Amino acid sequence: MKNVAIVYFSSGGHTQQLAHGIAEGVRSVPQTAAVLWRIEGSDLRDGRWKNEEILAGLQRSDTIVFGTPTYMGGIAAQYKAFIDACGGIWYEQAWRNKLAAGFTHSQGLSGDKLNTLEGLMIQAMQHGMLWVGLGIRPEGSSPEQINRLGSYLGLMAQSEADQTNLFEGDRQTARLFGQRIADATHRWQRT
Ligand SMILES: Cc1cc2nc3c(=O)[nH]c(=O)nc-3n(C[C@H](O)[C@H](O)[C@H](O)COP(=O)(O)O)c2cc1C
Repeated sequence: MKNVAIVYFSSGGHTQQLAHGIAEGVRSVPQTAAVLWRIEGSDLRDGRWKNEEILAGLQRSDTIVFGTPTYMGGIAAQYKAFIDACGGIWYEQAWRNKLAAGFTHSQGLSGDKLNTLEGLMIQAMQHGMLWVGLGIRPEGSSPEQINRLGSYLGLMAQSEADQTNLFEGDRQTARLFGQRIADATHRWQRT
């Protein structure tokens, strides 16, 4: 059995819906479990994030998928606090050779989401992880089409301010991304 951890922050629920879509795709691949971990602002004290249960869960996983909304063209502060709290893990290189992937959601069609994915990838590279890109050719740019925002580094999704549920194309893209991540996890792990 392989384990994929999906660790995300979400304020309004859209990034969370992406996380659930990825988990659905991961679980559709036999012998693969997906565990969701939510970063909460309440785990921040004096600007520092702390949650040993989440860190232990991430350590147990074969693959970690990182997800955050895009705030001011980058990683949301709550999520950056989590990333920075993993500095000790970086020192030990305890995530070295785990697979990594990333996703983000924003209101703007661009909204500078690429910068967010780059930030997620760079921290994964610092940990010595291996990055899995989206790997899905865009079907078109309509709301129901796969990878409609034409992203390659990771999963990008977008919703309007008054929109509760994700566009169908984004939801399907999340599911396909989860499948790809699960497949990659099985191919990469020897045992
Ligand atoms: C502080 C703040 C900054 C934001 N900055 C951006 C931005 O730079 N680009 C953009 O397209 N949307 C921006 N947004 C909109 C968020 O990306 C959007 O609310 C978020 O993706 C919703 O995800 P959630 O429902 O998971 O919280 C911003 C929202 C907030 C609260």
